[in-house]
Amino acid sequence: MKSLFQPVALAHASRLLNFGPTVLITSRHGDIHNVMAAAWSMPVEFTPPRVAVVIDKNTYTKQLIAQSGYFGICIPGAVIADLVMELGSCSGRDGDKFSRFQLPFYASATGAVPLIEQGCSAWLECRLIPEPHTEQQYDTCFAEVIAAAADPRIFANGRWQVTDENRDLHSIHHLGAGHFLRGTPLV
Ligand SMILES: Cc1cc2nc3c(=O)[nH]c(=O)nc-3n(C[C@H](O)[C@H](O)[C@H](O)COP(=O)(O)O)c2cc1C
Repeated sequence: MKSLFQPVALAHASRLLNFGPTVLITSRHGDIHNVMAAAWSMPVEFTPPRVAVVIDKNTYTKQLIAQSGYFGICIPGAVIADLVMELGSCSGRDGDKFSRFQLPFYASATGAVPLIEQGCSAWLECRLIPEPHTEQQYDTCFAEVIAAAADPRIFANGRWQVTDENRDLHSIHHLGAGHFLRGTPLV
């Protein structure tokens, strides 16, 4: 598949995450591709852009990231909120979720991670920063953003442009128990 997104300058990468959207974490090791939902992620540094994501040690995602050293963060739109719940309610250990949910993806430029654009507003490709002590004690993973891109219908010129016309791509914010808030501007 070919990307329809536009590159986002790394200087603006933090803007893709700083408002706390629920995200999809993608991973790949060899022939295995996987994706899970994550409500807990945030930017932590501007230059170079770095992020923190909480990924439970018991997930298949964590295993694949430990093996490959890379993961993707895809920002789902409201149109796929139900799918986000599904992707966060089963494990890739029990079968390929991309096939099961007929979810298309394409390989990042480095080939390290699968990236989802259908129903998503943006993605970030991230390289794990090895932190053996932190990884042993906690579920938090730190990573450097090495590439980012967004759908120009909702993120252009380094800014979110959230309107009634792009409702399908509005961010979702997990309240718990399968309920989400939609991210819309005050004015
Ligand atoms: C809306 C939602 C948000 C979630 N947020 C997180 C999170 O921030 N961190 C986490 O480790 N798991 C989170 N989960 C749970 C994982 O997505 C879930 O354990 C998933 O099945 C792991 O898949 P895997 O074993 O294929 O990696 C969330 C699930 C849902 C539905």
